[in-house]
Amino acid sequence: MRTTCTAIRSRTRLRLAGALAAVLVAAGVATGPAAQAGEERHGRDSTLAELAQRHGRYFGSATDNPELTDGAYTALLGREFDQITPGNGMKWYATEPQQGVFDWSAGDEIVDLARANHQKVRGHTLVWHSQLPDWLTGRDWTADELRAVLKKHIQAEVRHYRGKVFAWDVVNEAFNEDGTYRETVFYNTLGPGYIADALRWAHEADPRVKLYLNDYNIEAVGPKSDAYYRLAKDLRAQGVPLHGIGLQTHLALQYGYPTTLEDNLRRFARLGLDTALTEVDVRMELPADETKLATQADWYRQLTEDCLAVRRCVGITLWDYTDKYSWIPGFFPGEGAALPWDEQLRPKPAYFAIREALGGR
Ligand code: G3I
Repeated sequence: MRTTCTAIRSRTRLRLAGALAAVLVAAGVATGPAAQAGEERHGRDSTLAELAQRHGRYFGSATDNPELTDGAYTALLGREFDQITPGNGMKWYATEPQQGVFDWSAGDEIVDLARANHQKVRGHTLVWHSQLPDWLTGRDWTADELRAVLKKHIQAEVRHYRGKVFAWDVVNEAFNEDGTYRETVFYNTLGPGYIADALRWAHEADPRVKLYLNDYNIEAVGPKSDAYYRLAKDLRAQGVPLHGIGLQTHLALQYGYPTTLEDNLRRFARLGLDTALTEVDVRMELPADETKLATQADWYRQLTEDCLAVRRCVGITLWDYTDKYSWIPGFFPGEGAALPWDEQLRPKPAYFAIREALGGR
């Protein structure tokens, strides 16, 4: 009995030491040899990725090529996450800068990094109205011409990354806020059928890769997510290869938390679809303060719990993990502090909230 109690006490001490070491390591505090030994034993299973894996999910981050020269940044990227998404490197302007001339260098660099860190890659994105090359936007196309251009681009890229990415955002941001189709060059020239065509062409080029439609402001049940629900139902009924819906999840404290997120994830699951939170960040009006950071932490906790509550929500990807490389200040002047690590790569309350939601300490 005494032996058992001693063993339990010493296991508890070990766990506490491990948890403390993990917190210190996460906080960037230098730890001594004993604490490092603790990290060896306990730290390895305490990354966000490993906590998420216990639930059969991945936990990822976007990243971008210019950031990869930052050693402290890449070390944390490689350690904490089991999935990465190229923020720009697989977009049309980067991959087909001249018509029919493909440049895979940026995307390949991300894939190589992922392989070195045993991470999987979400492909982002094949068809989007933004960040298109000038040769495509600079002239008019007949429907036949544009269909051929689109098919060639999709199939070249999907073939190139076959076996290297596990999922593709095939079409990105196809709808307006009111649920009408966004009038992009693809919609205007080809009609709404371009979405089904894009999915079919991608599937032809890699029958194993998971194919997603991806958009922002579709976390809550509402006109825009309803449009995806109707389209997804339709595409499934027609046997079009659609496997998932990506909810970008660019949230902002001033607009409130999307309280119907879990219900929304559930209704897509009932259609037989996976879902993923693909570009998560929670921005705020600057300056950040303790109250805002605490609310932000609650939102990160809640969105993690919402995903975990629905079996078909397969994973969560931050739209980069540190405020140092966030897209927010550049696009929303006066806003920022959106990610779980600050500009010095120190974990914020949001980081600890995610850990807790994943069942870690
Ligand atoms: O490549 C040029 C470089 O040559 C130039 O010196 C520099 C000067 O500003 O700009 C560089 O281009 C920037 C590009 O990212 C690559 O770094 C653009 O200005 C900048 O606008 C662009 O921003 C990207 C944005 O998409 C464009 O809409 C962000 O990095 C990227 O994170 C963001 O990602 C999107 C997702 O793809 C879709 N969902 C929304 C999300 C956030 O906007």
